[in-house]
Amino acid sequence: MNLIDGKKIAEEIKEEIKREVSHIIDKENGAPHLAAILVGDDPASQTYVSHKESDCKKAGIISSVYRLSKDISEKELLETIEFINNDDEIHGLIVQLPLPDHIDVDKVIASIDPEKDVDGFHPVNIGKMLLGYPSYLPATPAGIVELLDRYDIETEGKHCVVLGRSNIVGTPVSVLLSRKTSPGNCTVTLCHSKTENIKEISRQADILIAAIGRPEFVTEDMVKKDAVVIDVGIHRVPSDKTKSGFKLIGDVKFEEVAKKCSYITPVPGGVGPMTRVALLQNTLKAYKNKHRGQTQNK
Ligand code: GUN
Repeated sequence: MNLIDGKKIAEEIKEEIKREVSHIIDKENGAPHLAAILVGDDPASQTYVSHKESDCKKAGIISSVYRLSKDISEKELLETIEFINNDDEIHGLIVQLPLPDHIDVDKVIASIDPEKDVDGFHPVNIGKMLLGYPSYLPATPAGIVELLDRYDIETEGKHCVVLGRSNIVGTPVSVLLSRKTSPGNCTVTLCHSKTENIKEISRQADILIAAIGRPEFVTEDMVKKDAVVIDVGIHRVPSDKTKSGFKLIGDVKFEEVAKKCSYITPVPGGVGPMTRVALLQNTLKAYKNKHRGQTQNK
């Protein structure tokens, strides 16, 4: 079994970004700028946003966080987005999800300027991705494709089974891996909560992507020998073996599956760091689109 070291690859990419940003700061009198809107006080969202802030800082990217009350009206949130859309100094904008129930998330995402939508969630960017046009790719699928690429994992003609059909992982990664690209050219099966015989299907996978959101759902008997296993899940569970009393696990029962597969991503240290770095890549791309007339997202 080979471990796919997402942490190491993400560090390498971060260094590449840092070098490019430092060149921009020297030569162009500006810097890429990412704005994040955080509504409410959900602890997980607060952690994610603070990670994004520190990632930006390390890469030389300016970051600003708009912290809004959980009681903010949808109208006020939309006005904040409009304000940032019109700020020429800000290149990327993300609204941290989930949002409080009284806010229509689809409306909020649709209000972000597609040119600043570095999460790649806007319908325009999803549509472009579907058509194979240049666009901002959603961070986790982009990170998975990058890992397959950097580890030289053959995808052409392979059967890729994706577990989970979320808008931000399962659906886009199944599109990306079925496209006529490299990595790509897979035959993709997308499984979800209504799939019958999920074990039988996942056992046929040459590449298995677990993004189902259920701790240790994928067991050894669901994996073909020498398959490539990508674990997107991240769950914090109680543990008497750690000082904190918690540990992180994925959607895959790592110990038993690792023995059977050819490649596997660990949790933590697999897909997670790649997701974080993909946001920086998109922010840099947004800067270049705006300032250098690079119109790959037009
Ligand atoms: N919540 C969980 N993942 C994400 C993400 O990738 N982007 C945003 N904006 N919110 C999230």
